[in-house]
Amino acid sequence: MQRLGVNIDHVATIRNARGTPWPDPVRAAKLAEEAGADGITAHLREDRRHISDGDIDRLMTALRLPLNLEMAATPEMQAIALRHRPHAVCLVPEKREERTTEGGLDVAGQESFMADFIAPLREAGCRVSMFIGHEPAQIEASARIGAAVVELHTGAYCDYDTEGRMAERDAELAALRRGAALAHSLGLEVHAGHGLTFDTVTPIAAIPEVRELNIGHFLISESVFIGLDGAIREMRRRMDAARASSSS
Ligand code: PXP
Repeated sequence: MQRLGVNIDHVATIRNARGTPWPDPVRAAKLAEEAGADGITAHLREDRRHISDGDIDRLMTALRLPLNLEMAATPEMQAIALRHRPHAVCLVPEKREERTTEGGLDVAGQESFMADFIAPLREAGCRVSMFIGHEPAQIEASARIGAAVVELHTGAYCDYDTEGRMAERDAELAALRRGAALAHSLGLEVHAGHGLTFDTVTPIAAIPEVRELNIGHFLISESVFIGLDGAIREMRRRMDAARASSSS
């Protein structure tokens, strides 16, 4: 079964907008567990704009599900990950001025730095994932440095879909399919995420090599209308339906 990782960052965004203790991302994570999520994802950004260090502490003690800690490849974040030893660490590019993670990591352009950076995380038992685009050079470099997982960035595919640019959307989808097949053939586990919604999830969930989707902003947004439980269950239903129809 394809896993659904629920990203709870934007529960913390709403909390931080008012400086109150609510809504609590840890409560959202517990609810996501009950609604059938297979993992919880949280991005500790350098500027702490949503998830805080205290949230990570509390998630590590409160969760039964595996935590996927998204972070930039910096010494500060490496030390935090080594202290907590979450199930998975997903390395993402980070720019302070960006609204959200734009584009994937350049693993190929900093291969020896990345190999050195992930070595202690691997030794600590974390499954290391590289958040990259579908370019073969990035996938091959991720395999060479010993990452266990690549997470393919679905943001451009989702943006084209939302903007109705269907030829570009289809080209992006085809490239994601090729990227997933290449990564799998190199022994990498394939995940995907960014920008996924009820409307865009089906073709991505149907890619046979994709073992896990990580979805946040849309689920938290939709929970305003149908509740977090309802949003997660509906996403799960669509993922399962996509897998069933692609394998039949
Ligand atoms: N995967 C990665 C690596 C991300 O950085 C993010 C955004 O934090 C997501 C998935 C989830 O993206 P979204 O919030 O748009 O669903």
